[in-house]
Amino acid sequence: MKTYLVTGGLGFIGTNFIKYVASNRKDIKIINIDSVTYAANPDNIDEEKTINYKFYKIDIANNDELSEIFKKNKIDYVVNFAAESHVDRSILNPSIFIKTNVEGTLNLLKLSLEYKIEKFLQISTDEVYGSLGKEGLFTEKTPLSPRSPYSASKASADMLAMSFFHTYGMPVLITRCSNNYGQYQFPEKLIPLTIINALTGKDIPLYGDGKNIRDWVYVDDHVKGVLAVLEKGEFGEVYNIGGRSEMQNIDIISLILKKLNKPLSLIKYVKDRAGHDRRYAIDFSKINKELEFNPQLNLDKGLDLTINWYLENRKWWGKIISGDYRNYYKIMYERGK
Ligand code: NAD
Ligand code: TYD
Repeated sequence: MKTYLVTGGLGFIGTNFIKYVASNRKDIKIINIDSVTYAANPDNIDEEKTINYKFYKIDIANNDELSEIFKKNKIDYVVNFAAESHVDRSILNPSIFIKTNVEGTLNLLKLSLEYKIEKFLQISTDEVYGSLGKEGLFTEKTPLSPRSPYSASKASADMLAMSFFHTYGMPVLITRCSNNYGQYQFPEKLIPLTIINALTGKDIPLYGDGKNIRDWVYVDDHVKGVLAVLEKGEFGEVYNIGGRSEMQNIDIISLILKKLNKPLSLIKYVKDRAGHDRRYAIDFSKINKELEFNPQLNLDKGLDLTINWYLENRKWWGKIISGDYRNYYKIMYERGK
């Protein structure tokens, strides 16, 4: 039995990863460490009911706390999901992005080297490649050209991770996935924000001309891609993960509203995001050919599942939107009103 140290496992993708592993891989033990920021939800995973699972509240930017985990447990693999993950927040306050995404990753790398872990997987993003024009796709060879404090911090972490492979021969792997959606996503991101605002009769803020493009992947497909890389990936390699689902923001919002039977008049064009990347689109032929990864869900089916989950889990998001999230929403969307 292998022990995985999963970081950020109370956030959106980490939660989905842990739940998937707990139900499908009885031979994996998971230690989840998460500092429980605003984006985490301790109710997501029931420690009592989840087999081979243990949670510790630890900040990866705190090297002393982190080293205790390595000291007290025999860890085989590290999967680093922990991050500050929202571009808009990185524009409001970049410093915490450097602390967690860069310093935190460096701490994990150093301890992983010291304790000779077998595999280190850095969960990265296609945003490190920057912004595309109308044509072309991001491949693993596309030069890094991050344009937001968030993507700059993720690119820095990727480069640190790769430097540990080249310098110390550490068994490092990197995945770069496009925009995820699905169950347990925090309401500040576009798809849950649209669903929740539509359900609560609030305007849906659409940045700029609404024609920015994102390439959407259902979170379960991302999780399967991560497992494929962990199990079969080659050290020192980067693997793009995608869902073959490019769409303009205006179109995806309109589609969600249609599925919910809500009027398009809820859409409200607002001031554009500073430095707003125009288009992301990912070529994932490498993971497809080399590791036989293929996304299972198209956008239409994935959105149906996601909408149903938010309809059936009003308590989960109701708690969030009635708490601190309200202050963020005011700062972000109600400035100057
Ligand atoms: P999220 O914001 O939902 O969750 C992040 C989790 O990390 C939270 O539980 C938070 O408490 C935890 N965390 C933050 N700072 C920490 C710290 N200092 N120490 C320990 N834990 C800390 O993010 P997500 O959407 O689940 O993204 C997970 C990872 O996947 C991130 O690395 C992100 O860059 C990457 N990614 C996300 C997407 C996407 O569309 N959401 C796409 C590609 C890659
Ligand atoms: P987001 O979910 O923040 O992901 P990312 O910025 O990492 O791609 O945003 C997805 C797209 O939706 C992006 O082009 C910005 C846009 N957007 C809006 O138009 N309005 C919003 O309120 C938000 C949060 C995002």
